[in-house]
Order: sequence, then C-alpha cells, then structure tokens
Amino acid sequence: MSTFHFPRWTNHFKLLIPAGAAGGVLYAVTFVWLGFSPKTIAKGYAPEQPIPFSHALHAGELDLDCRYCHNTVEEASHAAIPPTATCMNCHTAIRKDSPKLAALRKSWTDGTPVQWVRVHDLPDYAYFNHSAHVTRGVSCVSCHGRIDQMEVVTQMEPLSMGWCLDCHRNPEPHLRPLDEITNLGWTRPEGDDSWKADLVYSAEEINPQESCSTCHR
Ligand code: HEC
Ligand code: HEC
Ligand code: HEC
Ligand code: HEC
Ligand code: HEC
Repeated sequence: MSTFHFPRWTNHFKLLIPAGAAGGVLYAVTFVWLGFSPKTIAKGYAPEQPIPFSHALHAGELDLDCRYCHNTVEEASHAAIPPTATCMNCHTAIRKDSPKLAALRKSWTDGTPVQWVRVHDLPDYAYFNHSAHVTRGVSCVSCHGRIDQMEVVTQMEPLSMGWCLDCHRNPEPHLRPLDEITNLGWTRPEGDDSWKADLVYSAEEINPQESCSTCHR
C-alpha cells in the first residue's frame, strides 16, 4: 500500500478561508436568486380555479368554519385542502346538476382529486408552520385577509421575510382568544381589556423567534 500524501496546497489553510467565504456568497446569491425567481409568490395573486368555489358563500353566508374544510390547520404545518368527499357531504343533494359542479362530479366518479391551483406558496428554503401560529392566538385574517368575503382567493400579504419579521418583533396586536381564531370579523372591544383573560397564552409568554434557523432549516 503506497503512502498517501495530502496535496501540498492543503498546508496553506488560508486558501480555505476565501473559499469558505465564496461558498457563503454563493449560498446567499442562491437565496436571492430564488427570492426573485418568477415561481415565487406575489401579493394580489388570484389564479382561476377549476371549480368556481366561493369562500364568500361557504365561509361567509353559510358560515362554515374554516376547520370544517382545512381540518389540519391546528395540528400540522400545512392546512389541508379538502378532498372531494367533503364537498359531497352537501353536493350529492344540493345543486347536484349544476354545470358549475361538473368538475367536482367528475372527480367523484373518477376518484381523481380536483386540481386546485395553489395560491400561497413560500419558496422551499423557507419553513412555515400553521399550528405554531393558530394555537398561539394568531388568526387566519392576519395573514390571509377576509377570506370569508372572497369569491376568489387572493393573496393579501407579501409573505416576504420582512413581513414575517415585522410580526415576530411585535406580535401583541395580532393576538386574540383561541375561540376567535376563525372568526375573521372579530375586533378587540374598545376600552375593555377583559377579553385578554381568555388568551390561553399571555402576550408575555408569546415570543416568536428571529434567528435564521427558525425559518431556514
Ligand atoms: C367548504 C370548504 C371550505 C371552507 C369552509 C373554507 N375553505 Fe378555504 N379553501 C377551500 C378550497 C376547496 C380551497 C382551494 C380552492 C381555492 O383556492 O378557492 C381553499 C383555499 C383556501 C386558501 C388558499 C390556499 C392556497 O392555495 O394558498 C386559503 C388561505 C383558505 N382557503 C382559507 C380559508 C379560511 C381562512 C377559511 C375560513 C374563514 C376557509 N378557507 C374556509 C375550501 C374551504
Ligand atoms: C402567520 C400567518 C398565517 C396564519 C395565521 C395562517 N396562515 Fe395559512 N398560510 C400562510 C402561509 C405563509 C402559507 C404558505 C405556506 C407555504 O407555502 O409553505 C399559507 C398557506 C395556507 C393554505 C394552503 C395550504 C398550505 O398549508 O400551504 C391554506 C389552505 C391556509 N393557509 C389556510 C389557513 C387557515 C384556514 C388559517 C386559519 C385557521 C390560516 N391559514 C392561518 C400563513 C398563515
Ligand atoms: C355544508 C354544505 C356545503 C358544503 C360542505 C359545500 N357546499 Fe358548495 N354550496 C352549498 C350551498 C348551500 C350552495 C348554494 C346553493 C344555492 O345557491 O342554492 C353551494 C353552492 C356551491 C357552488 C355554486 C353552484 C351553483 O350552481 O351556483 C359551487 C361551485 C360549490 N358550492 C362548490 C363547492 C365545493 C367545491 C365544495 C367543497 C370544497 C363545497 N361546495 C362544499 C353547500 C355546501
Ligand atoms: C401576525 C403575526 C405573525 C406573522 C405574520 C408571522 N408569524 Fe411566525 N409566529 C408568530 C407567533 C405569535 C409565533 C409563536 C411564538 C411562540 O410560540 O412563542 C410564531 C412562531 C413561528 C415559528 C416557530 C415554530 C416553532 O416550531 O417553534 C415559525 C417557524 C414561524 N413563526 C415562521 C413564520 C414565517 C416563515 C412567517 C412568514 C411567512 C411568519 N412566521 C409570520 C407570529 C407571526
Ligand atoms: C420569521 C421567519 C424568518 C426568519 C427568522 C428569517 N427568514 Fe429569511 N426568509 C423568510 C421567508 C419567508 C423568505 C422568503 C421570502 C420571499 O419569498 O419573498 C426568506 C428569504 C430569505 C432570503 C432570500 C432573499 C430574500 O430576502 O427574499 C435570504 C438571503 C434570507 N431569507 C436570509 C435570512 C437570514 C440570514 C436570516 C437570519 C438573520 C433569516 N433569513 C431569518 C423568513 C425568515
């Protein structure tokens, strides 16, 4: 077995320092490039959906709770989009011949999911978790606006890093009792702080992190 010699340049460890720095720059550049690539999300984005599903009707007028359909929002990082079966709880009977529901009926008979178009979509290098927010007193409305008044879901907030950090630095104005999380029209009663007794976590206990690894892991 011949003796292995490290190449001579490895003696010059200093060389590795600029290489490391270049790696860091590359990492940052990749981040920035990803941040600006057209695949990332934008405020105002409101794609057309395969079925003209109205939140204004279902979550507004009919007053269905968000969790009736997005039933994982309190336990998981992602809020589930409901399967066809959830819609069919009603639409096997209600408006069962409506042309607006043709794609829903097709999905039901074929057993293939409806191809809903994703609206909010963070880049993969950013980590978000619904459960961490909605179980601490942050309502859907803080991040999604008045979904219960929308015919077509529209992205209302930039979902940029600066936007996340604005609230992480000062979450207090966004906190509310847990049983009002999906009541998007809820407002703090003026001059009466007694509702704060219903907060499961006091504002002092809520302490969102700002370290990079919180959202980039
Ligand atoms: C009857 C079922 C139902 C109810 C109730 C409901 N949703 Fe939805 N939601 C859907 C479906 C289906 C989609 C996908 C189609 C679309 O975007 O309109 C969706 C999409 C969304 C999206 C966009 C998802 C994405 O792709 O980014 C958000 C945000 C959302 N809902 C929030 C809410 C909130 C907040 C409530 C309560 C006020 C609510 N929803 C109530 C069925 C429902
Ligand atoms: C603190 C901000 C915030 C709150 C509060 C919040 N969301 Fe979201 N929501 C987001 C972000 C950010 C995304 C995009 C997540 C991604 O791309 O990974 C998202 C995505 C979604 C989606 C698409 C599926 C998914 O998980 O990616 C649905 C549906 C949704 N939200 C519903 C809700 C409902 C219903 C509530 C309230 C019960 C709620 N959200 C509360 C920020 C929030
Ligand atoms: C709790 C019952 C219920 C559930 C669950 C439900 N809907 Fe509806 N939906 C209704 C009612 C009630 C109407 C209004 C009927 C009317 O105008 O006479 C309606 C109307 C509609 C319409 C308009 C139909 C037309 O001809 O104008 C569409 C499209 C629709 N729903 C899609 C969906 C989809 C997609 C889902 C699942 C994500 C869903 N609905 C879940 C009760 C429900
Ligand atoms: C409206 C206020 C608000 C906004 C906007 C917000 N957050 Fe938060 N975030 C919070 C609060 C409150 C907590 C809970 C802190 C605690 O439990 O002490 C939290 C916690 C978290 C956690 C911690 C989860 C864990 O496992 O500990 C992550 C990750 C996170 N947020 C990511 C994000 C990202 C990414 C965005 C932007 C897309 C965002 N947040 C926007 C208020 C907000
Ligand atoms: C509360 C969550 C959160 C924290 C903490 C956070 N980031 Fe981010 N960061 C994000 C989100 C969300 C995006 C994606 C923004 C977009 O798509 O516009 C992002 C994007 C980026 C980008 C891409 C360029 C840009 O600005 O869009 C870089 C670089 C970055 N973060 C670095 C960092 C560094 C370094 C830290 C620590 C000092 C940090 N982030 C802490 C949420 C966070």
